[in-house]
Amino acid sequence: MRSKKQYDEISGLYDILSKGDDGFLFFRNIAEQQLNKLPGGARILDCSCGTGDHVIWMARQGFEVFASDISDGMLRQARKKANTANANIIFIRSSWEELPENTNKKFDIIFSPGNSFSHLSGFDMLDHTFKSIRKVLKKDGTLYFDLRNWEKTFEENSLLPQKFEIKHEGIKYDVRYAWDLKGWNTLCEMFVDIRKHDETTYRHYAFDFFPLSYIQLHDALKKAGFKTISRDFFPDDDYYYVIAT
Ligand SMILES: C[S@@+](CC[C@H](N)C(=O)[O-])C[C@H]1O[C@@H](n2cnc3c(N)ncnc32)[C@H](O)[C@@H]1O
Repeated sequence: MRSKKQYDEISGLYDILSKGDDGFLFFRNIAEQQLNKLPGGARILDCSCGTGDHVIWMARQGFEVFASDISDGMLRQARKKANTANANIIFIRSSWEELPENTNKKFDIIFSPGNSFSHLSGFDMLDHTFKSIRKVLKKDGTLYFDLRNWEKTFEENSLLPQKFEIKHEGIKYDVRYAWDLKGWNTLCEMFVDIRKHDETTYRHYAFDFFPLSYIQLHDALKKAGFKTISRDFFPDDDYYYVIAT
């Protein structure tokens, strides 16, 4: 799977690139409301855990926390941080599709933050993804995910090339983002170039993604037996979340 390789390659730089990402706060605000409804010790899975910041935050709140991701590289970073934070988290290497084969646990709530479902391995995997996640949720369990508002992105043609500087641990980096947004139902690519400010050449990374419409998601959730209980899909917002049970 290409996403696995792509995230393996960027894993050491991911935290530098996501520094200052306001998606973090967006997620934490909604997640907090969901976590407050759970009994202490409830079982939680972040199925796109990335480099682990969200799961470490959840583990500190006394829940039984599991973290899965398709990328060994991202999991390696997450494990390292969990060890340093002394956070008790069980890590699982798994794609969303293969979760039922990779764990025999059932979860009270499953999170997929950070626009992760845009990185589906293919459109044909959308139904499979939600069906697999449904299988590892408890009967009344809840699924949370957030996604870029692709409708707005297409309408406003808003993914234009970006160039900026990031300072991380005293080192300045030059970063360039570009997107090849081919169209709905088509494999698209995002390109990230990064170099230390005093280097002459950039390291180049590419990421596959599929723009998913809210209607497509809604249909796939329904097919998997989910009912949407909350969402904030507004035409003017860049991101939205969906909570389904
Ligand atoms: C945009 S990152 C978000 C990471 C983290 N949730 C955050 O908010 O920083 C997407 C994550 O999804 C993972 N991923 C991509 N495709 C996946 C798949 N099919 N199954 C499970 N994880 C996948 C990637 O390895 C990556 O860690």
